Amino acid sequence: MAADASSQDHQPSRDPYDRHVGRYSPELARALIAVVEIERGQRALDVGCGTGALAEALAALLGADSVAAIDPAQASVETCARRVPGADVRVGRAEALPFGDGEFDAALAQLVVPWMSDPARGVAEMRRVVRAGGVVAACTWDFASGMTMLRSFWDAAVAVDRRGAMQAGALDRTRLCDPDELRELWAQIGLLEIDAGELVVGADYADFDDFWWPFSAGVGGSGRYCASLDEAGREALREEVRRRLGSPTGRFRLTARAWYVRGRRPGADPATTQRSKETTWR
Ligand SMILES: C[S@@+](CC[C@H](N)C(=O)[O-])C[C@H]1O[C@@H](n2cnc3c(N)ncnc32)[C@H](O)[C@@H]1O
Repeated sequence: MAADASSQDHQPSRDPYDRHVGRYSPELARALIAVVEIERGQRALDVGCGTGALAEALAALLGADSVAAIDPAQASVETCARRVPGADVRVGRAEALPFGDGEFDAALAQLVVPWMSDPARGVAEMRRVVRAGGVVAACTWDFASGMTMLRSFWDAAVAVDRRGAMQAGALDRTRLCDPDELRELWAQIGLLEIDAGELVVGADYADFDDFWWPFSAGVGGSGRYCASLDEAGREALREEVRRRLGSPTGRFRLTARAWYVRGRRPGADPATTQRSKETTWR
């Protein structure tokens, strides 16, 4: 099942993460919410909220007082709390969620599951905190070929500095970035009505300098690798990335594909049990 998020003008915030990978997060959040089929009147949890793009999109739909968000990084939690006033934003990890059983209608993790120290434990916790029949969903980048921005960067890095780029993890982080692996994990946790598919989103760049800024500023793993190079190495990498993106002049847009997975917590509700046998989503 495919879900294309529409292109909308997004003004990145000043947070460095939001000028890097986070530039894609608002569109991705809207696409994830669309496949999860969250409705007004429900209560939702954003696990690994980062700077709060998903929590903000959930609050726009449900109201901030129906949204909780959690992340282990204190600075991100503070940014999220400022971005979504009225939401219950806490410091914590997926593997030990500080919420009671069945508190939410939906628990979502956007670009987080591969970074959990124990993904099975984290997803089991997400299952625990949703009600019977509630939804547990996640999405992860298709690093192998669908995340143009990071793929172009790391392919260029391998081309100009193979050993250094590999040591920096150019080809790592592919665990749980595949729809079959995500389905398997959801099944292992005992979720029902499991469905997986793609979410295709995009981000706009004013020009190549706008694209390059987070790398030169050392944001994220890619930025840290970039910052570790000497000036000549950085310039060679910059030119190789620019070439791989088609040497853009002026504004351009890149697309990114994520894999989503969703499933329901089993429940005593006969309607839920019947639905799970039919494995249907609306
Ligand atoms: C790539 S960011 C995604 C942030 C946000 N969800 C978004 O879509 O922009 C990954 C986030 O996962 C968080 N994280 C890492 N390990 C975690 C864990 N065990 N439990 C919950 N969040 C975790 C990080 O602190 C970071 O904010």
